[in-house]
Amino acid sequence: MALHIGSIAPDFTQESTEGTIHFHQWLGNSWGILFSHPKDFTPVCTTELGMTARLKSEFDKRNVKVLGVSVDDVASHKRWLGDIEETQHVKMNFPILGDADRKVSKLYDMIHPEWNDTLTVRSVFVIDPNKKIRLIITYPASTGRNFQEILRAIDSLQLTDKYTVATPADWKPGEDVIIAPSVTDPKELKEKFPKGYKELKPYLRITPQPGK
Ligand code: BEZ
Repeated sequence: MALHIGSIAPDFTQESTEGTIHFHQWLGNSWGILFSHPKDFTPVCTTELGMTARLKSEFDKRNVKVLGVSVDDVASHKRWLGDIEETQHVKMNFPILGDADRKVSKLYDMIHPEWNDTLTVRSVFVIDPNKKIRLIITYPASTGRNFQEILRAIDSLQLTDKYTVATPADWKPGEDVIIAPSVTDPKELKEKFPKGYKELKPYLRITPQPGK
């Protein structure tokens, strides 16, 4: 069955560079990112994994656990990690699943056979503490992902979970947000948005980011 935003992230058990991962148990009460890499010893993946390791403290700050997946086995990943550390000047600090049997890649529909029937595309699944898929991004193998955008999207998800707001185009943390159209009661508006708001249209109301 196709995975959608709102689907429960399928559970699995698979080996990784940091031992066996029982996915749901491993996630615990954290948010999670599961992201695929077409193959070991490939250039774009090498930069992406290095970047993710460099951003570990940013993911930690947001209570997000990061898990990579690539269709080679753990022994191959471990050889590759040395290259990543050497060329990206970073110590690897999160697990990568060995998925030589394509169990996870298939479960998450990361192989798009019209492009290649054995390698994965660059998929990103952001999963919340209830194990629900909250964001899906798919990039082709030749385009490295923007990890600042992934962090920004997680900031938006976590903010909009906490307050009845949405974030506008190109929003960055600290900037104004949009009041959810569901909030119409004047008393509720005053309580939830004490700093006030600007009504450009009845459906487009801008307010300073709550909690700042
Ligand atoms: C890469 O990671 O560089 C890559 C992997 C598969 C196809 C194209 C590029």
